[in-house]
Amino acid sequence: TAPLVIAIDGPAAAGKGTLARRLAAAFDLPHLDTGLLYRAVGRRVLDQGADPRDAMVAEAAARALTEEDLARPDLRGPVADAAASAVAAIPAVRNALVSFQRRFAAEKGAVLDGRDIGTVIFPDAPVKLFVTASAEERARRRLLELRAKGIAADPDQVLAEIRDRDAQDENRPVAPLRPAPDAVLIDTTDLDAEAAFARAHAVVAERL
Ligand code: C5P
Repeated sequence: TAPLVIAIDGPAAAGKGTLARRLAAAFDLPHLDTGLLYRAVGRRVLDQGADPRDAMVAEAAARALTEEDLARPDLRGPVADAAASAVAAIPAVRNALVSFQRRFAAEKGAVLDGRDIGTVIFPDAPVKLFVTASAEERARRRLLELRAKGIAADPDQVLAEIRDRDAQDENRPVAPLRPAPDAVLIDTTDLDAEAAFARAHAVVAERL
């Protein structure tokens, strides 16, 4: 039988990452945070002094991506967020990253979280989750994360950035953010990490 692939999609700061890590541990699967791929491509483009919307430069950066790039310390924060979202709208960049993601799961299966895992990368995944929360709740969580790191941020600005990125990810012509028809929706607005995990775990267990 094919190795188990768990596809988790949803908007920024909905709790996908935490959920993906916990599911990976529970089912003994490798985990790939696919946002890191786009973040690392964005950073490579910025390193070259180029514009992340430049399709030629961004495609070359995507093709040259290595595992080490994913461990860069500068992949978080508003600059990396915006660069990731910009390169992610370029079809040639997305194409260049498909095989990396499929290969990652080929041997042992995997939990992958992102925006298009259930729709484009693994349309036949046996388990697809779409994790959301209201923009206000996601902004609140992002603000807490930033504060925990000692970074002061303006709540209105954090909310505005989340809304911008949602709009960019939902409205792009290629691989727009949306649930696969067969995805199970988990709205975490009123769920803590534990409750979200319990729900997701039940969905996976049911399909094993
Ligand atoms: O999930 P994360 O916030 O790290 O993703 C950063 C950006 O990368 C997203 O705003 C989105 O534009 C892009 N992305 C994507 N497809 C994925 C993962 C991330 O387009 N599978």
